[in-house]
Amino acid sequence: MDLQPILTHVTDIARETGAMLREAFEGPLKIDQKSGHFDIVTEADKNAEKLIVAALEKAYPDHHIVGEEGGSMGAPIEEADYRWYLDPIDGTTNFAGGIPHFCTSIAMADKHDRPLVGVVYMPYYDEMFTAARGLGATFNGEPMQVSENEDMITGVLVTSFNYKQTNPGEPNSFDEVRAFLAKARAVRYFGSAALDLCWVAAGRIEGFWEWGINPWDCQAGVLIVTEAGGTCSDFSGADTDKLYLGDEVMASNGKVHEGMVQTLAEVYRRA
Ligand code: IPD
Repeated sequence: MDLQPILTHVTDIARETGAMLREAFEGPLKIDQKSGHFDIVTEADKNAEKLIVAALEKAYPDHHIVGEEGGSMGAPIEEADYRWYLDPIDGTTNFAGGIPHFCTSIAMADKHDRPLVGVVYMPYYDEMFTAARGLGATFNGEPMQVSENEDMITGVLVTSFNYKQTNPGEPNSFDEVRAFLAKARAVRYFGSAALDLCWVAAGRIEGFWEWGINPWDCQAGVLIVTEAGGTCSDFSGADTDKLYLGDEVMASNGKVHEGMVQTLAEVYRRA
């Protein structure tokens, strides 16, 4: 399958979605709750998803589509060789609060959920991150590489607290954060897993980890990191479904990966 024309098409869709989101970001927003006060959706999420789904359904009528807002769409999953994962706004809480750190994330995967094409667009700063399997990763059209830093202690790591952690009594990642704070220059929390992954790919940060997210948060970013020369795995360092479905996502420049895996292993041994 020639992935380049698909990548070009999806890049155009993401740019068009970004124009819509930039406009919505400037205006008044209608915010609704989904599973709780911490999990919200805006009209812009829904409108952006409609735009993306209409374009994908027209171009790829025999593909399955999974959207953060609309769930399963397009061709039935059992009949489709390819599936799309899309998040119209990753970083919705930022978007709704007037913080411009949000993006659109679109990925096409094979029937085993291994991503083939990934596009993440940050409209406010006009930053486009793309990759296709075997074709490399780009930032605003130029080849992109992970950082060369070999030492976690001089690196910056990023995580997020997934929505499940908001419920009292649920497991949380506080011990993980504490452990990494002792082993890295800094730990940051920006609120968009898709952008966190792209920032690993762009060499702005050394690593990212988060558990309990969704495939639409990570499918595009995981491919973009890998194609930029980085490493992605589950928390044990293995290339399993846990990574691609968002259950456990660890991404790095490759050089600090083993250190990240060991750090989490120590945390879980103690637990
Ligand atoms: C969320 C962001 C956040 C992560 C959450 C995601 P959304 O996506 O990626 O960083 O911690 O688990 O659900 O809800 O803004 O699309």
